Amino acid sequence: MTTATARAHTNIALIKYWGKKDAALMLPYTSSVSLTLADFYTDTTVTFDADLTEDRFELDGRSQPTTKISAFLDQVRALAGTKAYAQVASANHVPTAAGLASSASAYAALALAASSAAGLNLTPRALSRLARRGSGSATRSIFGGLAIWHRGTDDASSYAEALPATTLPLRMLVVMVDAGPKPIGSRQLMANTVATSPYYPAWVEHNEAAAQAMVQALAANDFSKIGELTEESSAQMHAAILASHPAFTYFQPATIEVWHAVQAMREAGLPAYATMDAGPNVKILTLAPYVAAVKAALPAGLTVTTTAAGPAARLL
Ligand code: ADP
Ligand code: DP6
Ligand code: CO
Repeated sequence: MTTATARAHTNIALIKYWGKKDAALMLPYTSSVSLTLADFYTDTTVTFDADLTEDRFELDGRSQPTTKISAFLDQVRALAGTKAYAQVASANHVPTAAGLASSASAYAALALAASSAAGLNLTPRALSRLARRGSGSATRSIFGGLAIWHRGTDDASSYAEALPATTLPLRMLVVMVDAGPKPIGSRQLMANTVATSPYYPAWVEHNEAAAQAMVQALAANDFSKIGELTEESSAQMHAAILASHPAFTYFQPATIEVWHAVQAMREAGLPAYATMDAGPNVKILTLAPYVAAVKAALPAGLTVTTTAAGPAARLL
């Protein structure tokens, strides 16, 4: 028996990934840029055991279906040249399937734990490529702080890497509108957006340029540019989703309420920008000195977690 435990943190995209060019290899249409978060993470233990007759998967103490996990473990088994089945036990310190990127921390932690337990010693880049096969957003969660996922053109060239740290004291406020599971998973909805949204080609063209602009804005420590690009990438992704067939949005009334509050904050001179993922929850990007004022200007009654840049995936 060989075992390893890894922790990986979630990341929130400032420039979004939405849509696969190659679903089997998990190659995205566009590059994306993210911030790995300190306060949300997944711990996963993988044990390869020659006595097992099938893979087993437990999440937060409950037995789960293994189809997705087994397909991922097959990649690891192929790399390591082993046939042994595995016991996977995972704990999410983030709501599952709520649009807070549990699939990112999950597959980054699984990539590191499973490859280590299988005796592989992968480079961060190879780990990033492996994590990509489990969930696109996981590609970036191998790295701490800011990361860019280069879309690439094949398996070898589609990976993430860390971006230089900004001198800005970036903070992210996670405003919980609904911690429950989303009505449609990211995977299914992004495929439908690609297939049916007339806005999708425009999204691809604009978002790729936005990823490069974000790298420049981060290097220049230009917070208003970083914020504008962040809010616009999210808005454009949700516009493409809204224009799909059938028309759909993850937004709930409180999502819009918080977004309007953020716009009012800016009119009042507060540097705050909103970004929403595949779910109704809102993340607000701001700077440390403004956190208290942003919180005070939010609608009452919503749970808010203030977080900052978190570390890279690591073995425990
Ligand atoms: P999210 O917004 O949370 O990333 P997704 O729809 O992208 O939502 O992914 C949710 C799916 O990710 C879950 O249904 C499950 O299949 C998988 N997942 C979440 N947490 C874990 C975990 N700790 N280990 C393995 N898979 C996980
Ligand atoms: C809106 O990585 O969850 O959070 O690759 O199918 O597993 P799969 O989807 P997933 O999609 C994330 C979409 C997003 C934007 C982002 O994280 O870049
Ligand atoms: Co996800």
